[in-house]
Amino acid sequence: MKKPFLFIILQFFCILLGSKAQPQSILTKGSSQQVEHYDQPFLVSQNGTFSCGFYPDPVGINVFYFSIWFTNSIDKAVAWTANRDSPVNGHGSKIKFGHDGNLVLRDVNGSEVWSTSTGGSSASTISLLDSGNLVINDRKGNILWQSFDSPTDTLLPYQRLTKGKRVVSALVKGEIGSGYYSLYFDNDNVLRLMYDGPVISSTYWPNNALNSVFQNGRTSYNSTRIAVLDRLGQFISSDGFSISASDLGLGIRRLRVDYDGNFRMYSLNMSNGSWVVSWEALPELCQVHGLCGENGICDYLGDQIKCSCLPGYEINNPNNWNEGCRPKFSYSCNKIQSRFVQIPQVDFYGFDLGYKDKISYDDCVQLCLQNCTCAGFSYRLTGTGVCYPKGTLFNGYRSPNFPGSFYLRLPTDSNDSILSTSSKLDCTNNRSDIFLGSPSMFGASQSNTKWTYMFTFIGFLGALEILFLVIGWWYLFRGRDVPQSVEEGYKMISYQFRQFTYEELKDVTGKFKEEIGRGYTGVVYRGVLDDKRVVAVKKLIDFSQGEEEFWAEVSVIGRINHINLVRMWGFCSERRHRLLVYEHLENQSLDKLLFENERTLQWRERFKIAFGIAKGLAYLHHECLEWIIHCDVKPENILLTRDFEPKIADFGLVKLTKRGEAGLNISQMRGTMGYMAPEWVLNLPITSKVDVYSYGVVLIEIIMGIRVTTSLSDDTKGGIQSFVSEVRHFLQCNDEPEITGLVDPKLRGQFDWEQLITMLRVATSCVEEERNRRPTMDEVVKDLMAFEERDDEPSSSSW
Ligand SMILES: *[C@@H]1O[C@H](CO)[C@@H](O)[C@H](O)[C@H]1NC(C)=O
Ligand SMILES: *[C@@H]1O[C@H](CO)[C@@H](O)[C@H](O)[C@H]1NC(C)=O
Ligand SMILES: *[C@@H]1O[C@H](CO)[C@@H](O)[C@H](O)[C@H]1NC(C)=O
Ligand SMILES: *[C@@H]1O[C@H](CO)[C@@H](O)[C@H](O)[C@H]1NC(C)=O
Ligand SMILES: *[C@@H]1O[C@H](CO)[C@@H](O)[C@H](O)[C@H]1NC(C)=O
Ligand SMILES: *[C@@H]1O[C@H](CO)[C@@H](O)[C@H](O)[C@H]1NC(C)=O
Ligand SMILES: *[C@@H]1O[C@H](CO)[C@@H](O)[C@H](O)[C@H]1NC(C)=O
Ligand SMILES: *[C@@H]1O[C@H](CO)[C@@H](O)[C@H](O)[C@H]1NC(C)=O
Repeated sequence: MKKPFLFIILQFFCILLGSKAQPQSILTKGSSQQVEHYDQPFLVSQNGTFSCGFYPDPVGINVFYFSIWFTNSIDKAVAWTANRDSPVNGHGSKIKFGHDGNLVLRDVNGSEVWSTSTGGSSASTISLLDSGNLVINDRKGNILWQSFDSPTDTLLPYQRLTKGKRVVSALVKGEIGSGYYSLYFDNDNVLRLMYDGPVISSTYWPNNALNSVFQNGRTSYNSTRIAVLDRLGQFISSDGFSISASDLGLGIRRLRVDYDGNFRMYSLNMSNGSWVVSWEALPELCQVHGLCGENGICDYLGDQIKCSCLPGYEINNPNNWNEGCRPKFSYSCNKIQSRFVQIPQVDFYGFDLGYKDKISYDDCVQLCLQNCTCAGFSYRLTGTGVCYPKGTLFNGYRSPNFPGSFYLRLPTDSNDSILSTSSKLDCTNNRSDIFLGSPSMFGASQSNTKWTYMFTFIGFLGALEILFLVIGWWYLFRGRDVPQSVEEGYKMISYQFRQFTYEELKDVTGKFKEEIGRGYTGVVYRGVLDDKRVVAVKKLIDFSQGEEEFWAEVSVIGRINHINLVRMWGFCSERRHRLLVYEHLENQSLDKLLFENERTLQWRERFKIAFGIAKGLAYLHHECLEWIIHCDVKPENILLTRDFEPKIADFGLVKLTKRGEAGLNISQMRGTMGYMAPEWVLNLPITSKVDVYSYGVVLIEIIMGIRVTTSLSDDTKGGIQSFVSEVRHFLQCNDEPEITGLVDPKLRGQFDWEQLITMLRVATSCVEEERNRRPTMDEVVKDLMAFEERDDEPSSSSW
């Protein structure tokens, strides 16, 4: 009788000790923990990197998971969860490594929520390894069960993704429960990302829209089906895919299929515990399928994305874009009753009812009208016209590169109010984004029959904008209790374009402490907004306008949203102060990279930059509702993101400052010496061709890596014009050594010949003295686009 009693006493002490002593990295059978003690992990790995135990739901109250997390990251990032879709109660739930060797998670009522099913085996210990793997071993050290075999949304170094396994994203940012996106080996042995949503499913990575498996650098011949991240940050898959972290080397990393469908690698910054993205599968997030649901369009908003509904459609669930939009009209299948609304630069992926090449727009309309299920069609202007009628409108995205338009089918009797109210509904979804469903979406419509419609529509928008402004302000000042949304852009919008007070900007910039730039138009200071966004605050020096005019102009600039243009977040107009608030790019301006030898820009980066600037300018010149001439295109005004996407800064300022005023002293109207078109000096009317000229000069600088404006303009031989005519001569004679000699020697001959020739042709035509002989930026974009994909070699690891 005494022995069992002693045993119980001992065990009691053990439990007491166990709950007070440091958490173990290894436990024997009989160990358990109540959820109430969640602040003490169940297990901690030997060197402390990982912890395992009860994890409170980030948003729910009294709801817990049994998880493994990174001890030293500030967000306590979760690496694995046992019960991600069935959390347990915060009172009375329990995890127990039973005497039968089974690890069981029980809810408050005693029901088994999850277990390792190792009961009855020879299991002896459970331990959390420094790799983040939770392991049940037998006495001999054999692994009977391990958490690495059942990944949730994360892969850790050495955790192998194998046949039949799936890494599944979370549904909502920062939450645990599973969502719609997954990473897995497909039946053809290729590692893929898939969207498997409430209505449809489709794979979207590697890109299967344009490229074959092989063109994506993959192979389907290796049936091993293993993908694994190593200690140094290299991720290698048996289908030939491999990438390296941008910070290759020892470190703490994880791979995660994020709630937004992107697959990213994160590195932990040990000094402050934050995560840095060191690689991502899809730099352009709108390529992820399903993000905006059925009848939704994905678009970029700075570095974020936003969703909007097609005209005539309204959102199903404002808290979940995956559920898409529903039509506000009903179809009856009658050919006469349909009309088509053009939506430029938008396309939908998949769900084609057919495909016709070499077809006119009118025939494409007929093709769509022939089928009741046709909801619209995509018409591309490449070659002779390509027509894709669509049955379902999914995976919609806007891309400035898309050489065509989408034509949405609507009932003829739907009057225009149905279209404009669609954007109204969008805007009142707690967004102060007054420009949503932006006019530019329809503005580029070219069909004559649409003009009448367009003007009424714009009229409507004008009226609505005022309404939205009021609503927008109301929400802004009500505070920021925006509902947690699946989609980041959604939240961003509520912070978007706004008016600041001078006091606010004084705080934001720390009393205008840190100057980061200075130019014709003003001084730029670095600032940090309340929501931690870093911004550039520009104090205009000589503005010409009163408050109302200023507000009118600024709101035009504020609505401009293009990946290659720096976004304006807000402004301040108070007494004598005029300030502008821009997104700030911590990376540099093009001149630093080109002329200051900090880092050699590779050829593909140079081409990307040249192409991006052209797209940004083309957008300003041709696609904005109100066209805008930049007037000061130069490398200093081209900012670069981390992956060398160029963003043009300072556009639209001409209108805000005295430089744009007619009749002013010519010297004040100039751009920057060397980049200025001859018209400035000749006192001719200024058109968008002045930007084309400056672009040509910048293009030459990108190719040669030298400041053409200083090395040639002062040249006694006649400056840039004589240089350019020499280049034209080389091109005509196809003089290979001379042409090669023009390329920046820092590239050591590493460039693409055809891209080079195209760029030189474009550059020389852009700097024509006679402005009518210069191309438009649209034409430049077309010329460069033809050679865009040339750098798309399988080498995906170069950064
Ligand atoms: C225990 O509670 C859960 C959820 O509260 C419920 O689904 C389950 O049926 C309950 N089990 C028992 C045995 O009552
Ligand atoms: C803990 O161990 C892991 C695996 O050996 C290693 O990568 C990590 O750097 C270690 N962490 C610390 C803080 O020593
Ligand atoms: C298949 O992939 C595995 C893992 O990456 C590799 O070890 C193996 O050599 C590959 N087999 C062939 C035939 O390429
Ligand atoms: C880590 O964070 C610290 C503090 O913010 C910063 O100084 C350091 O550069 C960061 N290290 C890396 C590798 O990003
Ligand atoms: C940690 O440092 C990084 C820079 O490496 C910075 O981006 C991040 O904001 C810092 N996080 C915190 C919480 O200070
Ligand atoms: C309409 O498209 C559907 C789906 O492709 C097809 O099954 C049907 O036959 C088409 N109808 C006509 C009239 O072409
Ligand atoms: C247009 O819509 C309004 C509001 O829905 C409706 O009252 C009006 O009758 C419609 N006009 C036409 C011509 O259908
Ligand atoms: C807007 O936000 C409020 C709370 O901030 C919420 O009650 C309301 O439902 C939201 N409206 C929509 C359409 O999401």
